[in-house]
Parts: sequence; structure tokens; C-alpha cells
Amino acid sequence: MTRGGRDDPSGAAAEPLPPSLLPLTAQVGATGHLHVGGVDLVALAAEVGTPVFVYDEAHLRARCQEARLAWGDGVAYATKAFLCKAMAALAHEEGLCLDVSTGGELHVALSAGVPAERLVLHGNNKSDEELRVALGAGVARIVVDSFDEIDRLERLAPTASVLPTVLIRVTPGVEAHTHEFVRTGQDDSKFGFGLASGAADEAVARLGALASAGVLRFAGVHAHIGSQIFLLESFGAEVEALGGWFAGLGLDELCVGGGLGVPYVAGEEAPTITEWAATVRAACARFGVPGHVKVTAEPGRSIVAAAGVTLYTVGTIKTLPGIRTYLSVDGGMSDNPRPVLYGSGYEAFLPRCPGAQRTMRATVVGKHCESGDLLVPDARLPPDTEVGDVLATPVTGAYGHSMASNYNKVPRPPVVFVGGGRHRVVVRRETFEDLVRLDD
Ligand code: LLP
Repeated sequence: MTRGGRDDPSGAAAEPLPPSLLPLTAQVGATGHLHVGGVDLVALAAEVGTPVFVYDEAHLRARCQEARLAWGDGVAYATKAFLCKAMAALAHEEGLCLDVSTGGELHVALSAGVPAERLVLHGNNKSDEELRVALGAGVARIVVDSFDEIDRLERLAPTASVLPTVLIRVTPGVEAHTHEFVRTGQDDSKFGFGLASGAADEAVARLGALASAGVLRFAGVHAHIGSQIFLLESFGAEVEALGGWFAGLGLDELCVGGGLGVPYVAGEEAPTITEWAATVRAACARFGVPGHVKVTAEPGRSIVAAAGVTLYTVGTIKTLPGIRTYLSVDGGMSDNPRPVLYGSGYEAFLPRCPGAQRTMRATVVGKHCESGDLLVPDARLPPDTEVGDVLATPVTGAYGHSMASNYNKVPRPPVVFVGGGRHRVVVRRETFEDLVRLDD
């Protein structure tokens, strides 16, 4: 054990990282190092530096294909989970629509060459400018979230390049089993129109009137109950809450949002995208959604999370006798704020020996100037882990890069896609010069 990290050879926790948490193409190479997309992760770290977000391109494509098959045309990738031009282009190539929730996400998708007719615009506070850009470009679906937005749409619709098609976002009054910060289906929500309060009915009446007046096309209903949901029953409850009401509206589209959970740590299991779609379809049949209705969804995390691995370099190992071992890496809460924000758990492993027993317990922390800067509070690592090792955290493809910050003026890591034995940098590493680029 290096520098006295606590040894804990007992129990399942010492087991090697379960391969199920790794990207699809992960395999151990001849040198014993972990390869993803045919690329040796230790060599990659040496070449592009750390920290770095590494994505298995084959994994991303496989999940997009699964979603397209399970849900059919119209299923949208929720770009908030991970967005750059390469990802937008990949999801589009695989036949997915893209859900964007701000003018910024809309801009990136359009810059990547995704046609506006493959985009869905969300947002609980869309500005005039965001709506104007979307209407001008001919964005396929606008998901209306408030009465103020209906007023804005009515005013701005005449500037649209094509007749705008809208869905109404409804809050179905369902409490999904997940972290309260990422729950959105309950009555007390900033999103959508409440079903229970009658707001949804009032909004339907207004949108119906605008449709009759030829201002827009009112196509359907959207709901999203939360994120990182493991229980398919939550989605069944969503459809149960909406089904009868939706059927009475005579509309053609029902989008059940995103939210399917993924395993982050050993022992967790989640349903597949295919199982999720089958459950929702069965619930639609059971709760009265007419057969001709196009039922769609917007997966984000379940497309990208397990495709991504973050590589760091171990810089400092500090053992506090009788307390714990702190193992500091060269990133932290700026590239993965999820442990701090939601208490999310992650695993850690060394790509130079992915099958090693992990008998050393350590707290993996970042390089930021605060104690809350935790990446893996109770990590298990091989006992010979040492300064200079490349350390990886798997399942970091969702809401890491997209929520990354420059806290402490730490430049954001690059994004690298791997596949076919090659890597390509799709987002370059920020430089110190980038950190002052916006300053006057
Ligand atoms: N559709 C809508 C309207 C959404 O608000 C979201 C996520 C999604 C789809 C995609 O959900 P997913 O399939 O990725 O669960 N930052 C948090 C997650 C926030 C999710 C926000 N909305 C996290 O890191 O866990």
C-alpha cells in the first residue's frame, strides 16, 4: 500500500470494478491496460493530458440506435446531458431528434448542422429572443410551459418561417422516486401546467383557440417526472395520471420526457431503454391513450452516461492516521459537480490494472479550494495506487461536461471520442488564455 492508505481486504467492496459499469467496447489489452474503442486509456492520458472526458463512440451510437428502435421516429436526445457539436451530429446521424432547453443548446445543435425540423425547444422561461430564433429557424416542436409563453407565442408566431407546432407541458402530479432536486412531476414544480389545479385545462383551451385561429398547430402533450429514475412503475404512474385526460383532448402526440436511471456503482441495476419503452406503451394501452397516438420520449442520461469515463492523474496522497486517506486528483467539482450537488456515488479504478482487487479505501478529492470538493467519498482502489497514476471514474458521460465550471479558474477538460483504435478531440482543452478571453 502506498503511503499508508487504509487496507480493507474484506468484503465485496474490495472486488475489481464490475465491467458492466464500463463502456461497451472496454476490454483489457495485451499490456493489461484498459482499452476503450481500441485505445489504451493510459497512453491516451499521456498523449492528451488529464483530466479528460473520454467517450466510447460505439457505445453512444448503440444507445441512440436502441432508443430509436424502442421509441420510433420522434424520440429526442436530451442534449442537456452532454452537448457539443460532435454529439449533436452523432445523435442526428443515428436518427434521433434533439431536445434543447435554452438558446445556447439550440445554437450548438444548429451549428452542428442539425436541421431545425429535428429539434424540440423546451424551457420554463423562454425569452422573446429564444422564441424568435426558434420560430425563424423552423424548430419542429415548441413545448409550451407557461401562460406568459403562450402570450409571447401569440405575439411572435407571425414571424415564424413555418406554422409553429406546439406541445403543452403538463405536471401530472406524480412524485418519482429520485433526488428531490431532479423531481419534476409533482404539483409543486416550476415546470409546466398543473393537471390538478386546472391550469392544464385552461392552457389547452387557449392553445386550442390559437390553433383554430391558424396561429399555431397544437399537436400534443409533454410531461417529464424527473431524472435518474430506476422504478418503471413511476413511468406507469405518469401515464396513469395523464391517460384519461389526454385521450379526451383528441391530440396526436404524447411525450413522456426522459428520466430513465443508470447504474453508477457496483450493485445498482436499471431497466434498459427497451424495457422502459415497452412499459410506457403497455401503460398507454391500459390507461386509454388511443392507439394512433405517437408516443415518444427524451432520454438524456441513459444515452450518454455509461459511454463516458473521466481520466485524472493522482497528484497527492495524504493519510491522516486513524481517520482517512485523501487522494487528490487534477480535476474535481468543476468537472463533476454531481457528488457535491446530489450526493451522487461513483466508482474509481486504475486503467493500468482494471481487474485488480481494490483493497485500499480512500477519499478521492479534487484540487479546488473547499472541503466539499469530493469526487468519490469512499473509493476502493488497488493497494499500490501511487502519485502519477491515471485514475478513472466510470459512468461520467452525463451531466459532467455539461455542468462543468471554471471554479478556481481551473480550465475545463477536453472531450475525446474513441473508436476503431483511434481518438479524436471533439472539444479542445480550455487554456489559461481562454480564462481571460471575455475580460475587458
Ligand atoms: N426532458 C426534460 C424536459 C428534462 O428536463 C430532462 C432532464 C430530460 C428530458 C432528460 O432527462 P434524463 O433522461 O437525462 O434523466 N443535473 C441532473 C439531472 C437534471 C435533469 C434535468 N432534466 C443530474 O446530474 O443528475
